[in-house]
Amino acid sequence: MKGLILSGGKGTRLAPLTYTRAKQLVPIANRANIDYAVTDLTDAGITDIGVIISPETGPEVQAHLGNGERYGARFTFITQDHPGGLAHAVRTAEGYLKDDAFIMYLGDNLLDGGIRHIIEKAAREHADACILLTPVENPSQFGVAVRDQEGRVTKLVEKPQAFISNLALVGVYYFTARIHPIIHHLKPSPRGELEITDAIQGLLDSGANVQCEEVKGWWKDTGRPEDLLDANRLILNRTQRHLEGQIVDSEIVGSVHVSAGATVSGSRLRGPINIAAGAIIENSYIGPYTSIGEHATVQNSEVEYSILMRHASISNLERRLDSSILGEHASITTDNTRRNTTQFTLSDR
Ligand code: TTP
Repeated sequence: MKGLILSGGKGTRLAPLTYTRAKQLVPIANRANIDYAVTDLTDAGITDIGVIISPETGPEVQAHLGNGERYGARFTFITQDHPGGLAHAVRTAEGYLKDDAFIMYLGDNLLDGGIRHIIEKAAREHADACILLTPVENPSQFGVAVRDQEGRVTKLVEKPQAFISNLALVGVYYFTARIHPIIHHLKPSPRGELEITDAIQGLLDSGANVQCEEVKGWWKDTGRPEDLLDANRLILNRTQRHLEGQIVDSEIVGSVHVSAGATVSGSRLRGPINIAAGAIIENSYIGPYTSIGEHATVQNSEVEYSILMRHASISNLERRLDSSILGEHASITTDNTRRNTTQFTLSDR
């Protein structure tokens, strides 16, 4: 079985961060978003992985992933000339996928509980496809699936106006090669894309066996800044206390990870927190659910529920920085708001 990670797309919802970076490389708890997808695939025994990239951000994604050795995987990079939709990405990868079954994983999705259960279900049921579902409170904003009494999928509805199901499709799918001829016959949707939901509906219409599984735990699409912060929180919840680096005159409470090469002095840290190598924390307070990237600095300031990427810096802030994302090399040294906390999403320098 192969893997197919989708790491192209436009990333407009994450602007300004995506003006300078592929959204799949945005760090969540100091690891690139896409790394979690790779790990889910390799943990399930899938090491032959195709990666869809765009002409704009592809080189950066490729440089980050390398040849796969670091992950115990082998990557094949496939350029999608324009973001023509998820089914268009599969069509672009057809030459690589050949007749193999595959797991398609959206590179900006994060999943708790891994993907083994999807593969096992597909094998047990001899499925042509197996989709992953999760209950949502606002089904009218998602593609949802309707199931019969045996749990087989009978119908997909994109953004239903009247309630039909609260089970939304999540960005991980199992397909066999039966999907390819269906995609050949797809027409672009009103938004001009070849939609994967239309392809799955096509499978259903052709009598294919489409199974489903529910997400075990949480699922996150990190398409918007608030989702990134929430994903960071969810992953940081897994933090184990691990204190390396140089820690002087500081009070450290809870699940705090300080990497080797980081320096913490005269500060108070309240986990869960992840502090990367080379970061410098001085006379500051770092509150829960914060990740501080490599060589980022926090001086004479307070920050919580935030992401500071590599080389970002804050210093001498009069008010606590909260719910903020600072891109690489972004820096804040003054504060002139009148509120008790301050919120920013700053792109890279
Ligand atoms: P989306 O978040 O649906 O699309 P997008 O990346 O264009 O983002 P936005 O809506 O903010 O403009 O994409 C889900 C994932 O699939 C993401 O990792 C990008 C990837 N993708 C492709 O690789 N090719 C495509 O044609 C599309 C639409 C998405």
